Amino acid sequence: MSQNQEPQQVVPPPVRDRVRVFDTTLRDGEQAPGFSMSRAQKLRMAQSLAELGVDVIEAGFPQASDGDFDSVRAIAAEIRGPTICGLARAQFADIEAVARATGKAGRARIHIFLATSPIHRRHKLNMSREQVLETGFKAVRRARELCDDVEFSAEDAIRTEPEFLIEALSIMIEAGATTINVPDTVGYTTPDEIGALFARLKREVRGIDGVVLSAHCHNDLGLGVANSLAALAAGARQVECTISGIGERAGNAALEEIVMALRTRADCFGLDTGIRTPLLYPTSRLLAHLVGATIPRNKAIVGDNAFAHESGIHQHGMLKNRETYEIMRPEDVGFSRTQLVLGKHSGRHALRERLLGLGHELDDAQLDELFTRFKTLADKKREVFDSDLDALALGQDPEALGPWRLEHLHASTHLGGSASASVKLKHEDGRLSAEAAIGDGPVHAVLRAIERASGINLDIADFQVRSLSFGADAQGRATLGVRHDGRELRGRGTSTDIVEATALAALEVVNRIERLNQTQLNHVQSSQQPPLPAAANHV
Ligand code: KIV
Ligand code: ZN
Repeated sequence: MSQNQEPQQVVPPPVRDRVRVFDTTLRDGEQAPGFSMSRAQKLRMAQSLAELGVDVIEAGFPQASDGDFDSVRAIAAEIRGPTICGLARAQFADIEAVARATGKAGRARIHIFLATSPIHRRHKLNMSREQVLETGFKAVRRARELCDDVEFSAEDAIRTEPEFLIEALSIMIEAGATTINVPDTVGYTTPDEIGALFARLKREVRGIDGVVLSAHCHNDLGLGVANSLAALAAGARQVECTISGIGERAGNAALEEIVMALRTRADCFGLDTGIRTPLLYPTSRLLAHLVGATIPRNKAIVGDNAFAHESGIHQHGMLKNRETYEIMRPEDVGFSRTQLVLGKHSGRHALRERLLGLGHELDDAQLDELFTRFKTLADKKREVFDSDLDALALGQDPEALGPWRLEHLHASTHLGGSASASVKLKHEDGRLSAEAAIGDGPVHAVLRAIERASGINLDIADFQVRSLSFGADAQGRATLGVRHDGRELRGRGTSTDIVEATALAALEVVNRIERLNQTQLNHVQSSQQPPLPAAANHV
């Protein structure tokens, strides 16, 4: 340093607050039509959310059904890292169900919700303000007897009289709530309004500084993310959101959009999250694969076009300096700029590298098995794209494998006439069942043939076939939603032949129904068994 140079001032980095990311993909997201998942699929998704670095996984609503209870219990037992949370109404039975389901979690949370708005109090709960306060207080107190970490949500908080909301939240903190969540249940608020409300809650709710204040915004007016960010700017330190914004009606605020807005505009927010952003794109793709949904091409952060630059002017600017048109680097969200295409001459090593790039870590035995299937696919189609590899790596839902397997399929179609299909199915108990049917087209015919062969009627709510990649030889992904016992069961099938893809999707649903029927039968039989003799209880 020369004599007359000023000593350089070391500016310490600004201290940034940490925002907790509460992911409710498996509860608020999964409860929306078209997004239901089996237990194995939820477990797979939970694993991926843990790797992504979310702070809390809301794994389900244990009291809602035996299936929900089992999923929450499995996630609590197996997933380490995030807090595992279960939802409960302000009722002791619900709260105790969450405590049982999350009992094996490394860290557990009970999340109680109770509506506070006048419209919900009058028409849904039929409760006075006093009754809401008393019910909530007792519920939170009971939950705190069972768990140290209790969240209280004032459902429809945004449409609640502010003075009553302040009173209700103060009382729930007094009862022992450790996180206070303020949901915009119907997606009604605006950024200015929610910002002002959160600032007021920070000033006026008693004990608010000793708990975490949280935002939960729905997207009915397309403002879910903007409202969540406004709440964070006004003092919220937990944000509730879902992968790709799935959820009731227009969905919840999208996790990836909130996280990347906080990161890209750290200058505005000064807030950090613990999210490993390069896993955002793989996690969103995994979810789409599991539920059989398509991510819109123009979806922010994770849509296929999010980093595509088509117009000449943009391309020119990009070549000179990426920052002319790019505010985030694709690699920061796990998006690969180059779509590496594999083919039948690609080796095991290239396959493993590409799979790793897509977030699929396989051991040697798994890679061997996948390599064989890759070669079979590469023989059928010239080029194997990333989406084909995802389908190979993620495979079928293990809970939908068996008891029925497809042994044979034939379909034909005639211009101006009806189509026909024949199938042969094999049951794991050794039964073979062959049937044929005609239909309006080969897809219709094959669905009818499968119904006949399995003896299970498919009440179809939703059916889609889409191409997984490019070209006439692309694989087709069929997704089938079927109504069964008041819920929707979904199946997926992938093949270069869309009739076969449909048959595989239908078989997944048939297998789910058969397994459910079997579980119900076992349940009835075991509840009819005579009680064990007294001595047997002591063995
Ligand atoms: O939107 C909502 O109010 C909810 C609560 C259960 C938190 O999802
Ligand atoms: Zn919600």
